[in-house]
Amino acid sequence: MDKAAKHTSAWADAATGQMHPARSHEVHARVRSFSRAGGRLRASQHAALERHGDSYLVQVPRRDAIRTVDPDFVLDPQQVFGRRAPLIVEVGPGGGEALLAAAKANPDTDFFAVEVWETAIAKIVSAAAAQALDNVKVVAADASQLLATALPVGCASEVWTFFPDPWRKSRHRKRRLVNEAYAALVARVLAPGGVWRLATDWADYAWQMRDVVEAVSAKGLFTYPDAGARPQLGSDTWVEGDKGNGPDPGSPRGVMGGWSQRFSGRKLTRFEARGIAEGRTIRDLTALRTDQKLTPEIDSREAAQREVAQREVAQSEVAQPENGASGLRAPSA
Ligand SMILES: C[S@@+](CC[C@H](N)C(=O)[O-])C[C@H]1O[C@@H](n2cnc3c(N)ncnc32)[C@H](O)[C@@H]1O
Repeated sequence: MDKAAKHTSAWADAATGQMHPARSHEVHARVRSFSRAGGRLRASQHAALERHGDSYLVQVPRRDAIRTVDPDFVLDPQQVFGRRAPLIVEVGPGGGEALLAAAKANPDTDFFAVEVWETAIAKIVSAAAAQALDNVKVVAADASQLLATALPVGCASEVWTFFPDPWRKSRHRKRRLVNEAYAALVARVLAPGGVWRLATDWADYAWQMRDVVEAVSAKGLFTYPDAGARPQLGSDTWVEGDKGNGPDPGSPRGVMGGWSQRFSGRKLTRFEARGIAEGRTIRDLTALRTDQKLTPEIDSREAAQREVAQREVAQSEVAQPENGASGLRAPSA
């Protein structure tokens, strides 16, 4: 069936069991940071969702398609977890290796996985249930929408953005998750003193992340303690013609550094392992939320939606990230 013709009436989502509204025309015009391609849920994954979905999935009223978020929806973490505890939000956890290991090691902290791919969601639910974790919840949503309106301002002690899809082709760069609009959403949900942790194995995405963190720090929303740190990171493995390593050969601003030590709380995931195996340098970044109040453009829910709208400029291409979550199935909208 033609993808564009799918879901012209209400339908049920396999990952969440939820009924979704028919897609609006807007859906096809959005720029998403995730692709639609991927595998299908295995029978065991279906069964895990059926059996444990109620315990681990947070149901989200949709705006106009799967993974969208009704802008009037407010998600109260304390109600969801049944307690008041530090909250870590991981955006795009994939199969959840890092999040699940951290949740197991830190039972006094709550963990929200915000993920779009249904096989990844099923893996997290299945593994959380197998370990009887009660400090993990999974939200099947586009983080750009969930962070913009649904999560309360200042609710999180940390936000993690590890190995986001690199979207390496220049015509796909606009799909990269980490940009200034996204950083503003992270600032919105982080409490003062909260930590935004990022990591990537793609040098040009690391430089982009660094420029974003610098820009939002210059606006006073974050501090960037490791600005300029470790400028030679990656240069030792650089060879002529290598675009994936080296000291910023493609950066118009030269050798700048800005790289934190590897976050010790991050379990090695298969994406990080693949980057290392293919000879890429892993770069971590860390930004600390200040107590600077958000400007009305970022603070109000209505204005936060404008941040989302920036990502929704007209474009209709369907594409896949080059080192995206192969074997994971993405939603069809
Ligand atoms: C390359 S994988 C990395 C997974 C994991 N962080 C790791 O380090 O192994 C990127 C993940 O981000 C998810 N993702 C991309 N855009 C997203 C968005 N807007 N909201 C939530 N998840 C997203 C993808 O579905 C995919 O699972």
